[in-house]
Amino acid sequence: MLRSRLIGVGSYLPEKVVSNDDLSKIVDTSDEWIYERTGIKRRHILSEEESTSTISLKAAKQALSMSGLTGRDIDLIILATATPDKTFPATAAIIQRELGSQGSAFDIQAACSGFLYAMTIADSMLKNRQAKTALVIGAESLSRITNWQDRNTCVLFGDGSGAAIFRAEESKESIEGFGIYDMIIRSDGNQFDLLCSSGGAATSEDCGKITMNGREVYRHAVTNLTAIAEEILTRNNLSHKDLDWFVPHQANMRIIESVVQKIGISMDKVILTIEDTANTSAASIPIALTKGFQEGKIKEGDLILLDAMGGGFTWAAGLLRV
Ligand code: ACO
Repeated sequence: MLRSRLIGVGSYLPEKVVSNDDLSKIVDTSDEWIYERTGIKRRHILSEEESTSTISLKAAKQALSMSGLTGRDIDLIILATATPDKTFPATAAIIQRELGSQGSAFDIQAACSGFLYAMTIADSMLKNRQAKTALVIGAESLSRITNWQDRNTCVLFGDGSGAAIFRAEESKESIEGFGIYDMIIRSDGNQFDLLCSSGGAATSEDCGKITMNGREVYRHAVTNLTAIAEEILTRNNLSHKDLDWFVPHQANMRIIESVVQKIGISMDKVILTIEDTANTSAASIPIALTKGFQEGKIKEGDLILLDAMGGGFTWAAGLLRV
């Protein structure tokens, strides 16, 4: 059967690093408080010249290089971001132009679950023969919508980008076959106000700043991430023992540890970036995936569980054999 095979990954983190100690000079916080509650030590922040399109291109070029392809081979680009270069057109259009790609290019927005939403769309399009080779990117310039006076939120986020290339290929129908095996996406608009931007083009004529009810987000994150991970395993008759790696959204180390404990996976099967990246929203899963490959952990044939949750609320899970 036709499946979406992962053939390349890449990521980029801006050069400028802001440590917890640096932040304690701006707001009333400390390295100890931040690290204990979140597992975050530092985050990367864009330079003035950089934007979501420029950092996306860096990750995309790395993914192209790993796959042995050029931009011309790509006929579908989906960028997941909450921080586009412009309100319109899609930032993916800039990426398409710069890579010389064909077909279609568009952005989607599902906050921190964005990359898994984009993977789901790409997978459907590849299987339906609407494209042959998809570039899926998660990239965020969250520092631009961070309120640097709000210690409740500014310590949690960072900038970065990650990319993955999927190609439609014939694969075994069973779980042994490579490619995206299953995806689930969910949302609950009743929780819209718990994690959102304070503005938007159609309401305040600007893009606003991040606002959040941390405790409520934490509670829902643990519940939803656990439930959807268990659902995708159960509906495919799999157990955590079948997994080689767990690549969760990197928002908070305590959230990851709770979910890992509930699902039953051991911590040494979890790819972690949170300490060095903080929460990069839609970029977090492809950055972690790339780290898994670059460190030689993820190897051909491995089965990976992906799991994310974010504003909306949105949440999603995926099973991928590389
Ligand atoms: N430094 C020092 N003190 C702080 C800071 C800070 N950066 N931020 C808040 N505090 C204070 C609060 O003001 C409060 O003080 P008070 O008791 O005098 O009022 C105290 O610390 C405790 O605050 P809580 O919010 O109760 O702390 P909590 O243990 O819940 O941790 C945190 C807060 C880390 C935000 C946690 O709720 C959390 O991680 N929530 C999930 C949020 C998240 O991950 N969001 C990312 C997007 S969603 C996603 O990607 C899943």
